Amino acid sequence: MRLLLAPMEGVVDHLMRDLLTAEGGFDLCVTEFLRVVEQLHPVRSFFKICPELAHGAKTPSGVPVRIQLLGQSPHWLAENAVRAVELGSPGVDLNFGCPAKTVNRNRGGSVLLKEPEALYAIISEVRKAVPAHQPVTAKIRLGYDDASLMLDNARAVAAAGANELVIHARTKRDGYRPPAYWDQIARIKEEVQLPIVANGEIWTPEDARRCQQQSHCVDLMLGRGALACPSLAHSIKTGAKRRPWQQVLALLKRYSLFEIQGDKGCYYPNRLKQWLQFLRLQYPEAQALFDQVKTLKHKEELLQCI
Ligand SMILES: Cc1cc2nc3c(=O)[nH]c(=O)nc-3n(C[C@H](O)[C@H](O)[C@H](O)COP(=O)(O)O)c2cc1C
Repeated sequence: MRLLLAPMEGVVDHLMRDLLTAEGGFDLCVTEFLRVVEQLHPVRSFFKICPELAHGAKTPSGVPVRIQLLGQSPHWLAENAVRAVELGSPGVDLNFGCPAKTVNRNRGGSVLLKEPEALYAIISEVRKAVPAHQPVTAKIRLGYDDASLMLDNARAVAAAGANELVIHARTKRDGYRPPAYWDQIARIKEEVQLPIVANGEIWTPEDARRCQQQSHCVDLMLGRGALACPSLAHSIKTGAKRRPWQQVLALLKRYSLFEIQGDKGCYYPNRLKQWLQFLRLQYPEAQALFDQVKTLKHKEELLQCI
């Protein structure tokens, strides 16, 4: 079984990838998306989204990190994909799941799920441009308004030569509302000869098992569940119990010191509160801490509370 850490814009940056992969269980991370609009990004944009490029594109615990691109131009996505792998990204991932209005208005992200031929054009051009030994992967939802093009989209991804497909088992219209329709992934799996990774609504090891049974996928991608329970991947792989709160608290301290020293230190209060909002889904202690810090604005006060 492979477990992938989901890309999460504004939440899972290199510091979070470092902390979560150090907990064990993850085999691959995907970065937040790099938006491609009619230009070849300078090298520094790739390092900004993936500072791990300076260390062989691996987190400090040795888990590979793949760059994700989002856009609509086959040509410019291909140019940027080539640069990503030249800089050391182990392959490149293409985002066709983003529900953001500004992104969709510019024909990027999930709106492309209305056009299987656009998926085909993008993936085949990227596949042709990137050296054959480097994987080109895609991430989709079941559809935009509904799942009527789900099989056409998956067939387009496979025909274009993608090496792997991650499926977030909801439409754009479903947003992030439970449930995730894992059984729909099994339908896709019957239709296309392509390694598929199931994603969506996996919060516990039991969810992971049910998702595997219903999707017929062995490999899984974890997003919010890993933020709510940092040792989730480790528990899924080993059967170990989740870490006790004291250990999560130690992680929060490490995160705080990382974030304050990092280049985005000014965002620390918001980032910490955001993470606590995920943690409180699994740890009642996180709710108590959140209540204490929610009105605080200064990093020193927050650190004091932790
Ligand atoms: C705050 C947030 C940011 C996200 N950013 C990205 C992104 O940059 N690229 C992407 O492909 N998916 C992104 N996603 C979707 C996740 O990767 C994942 O598919 C989704 O959260 C479902 O998985 P989960 O139920 O395990 O969280 C984002 C999701 C959230 C909640």
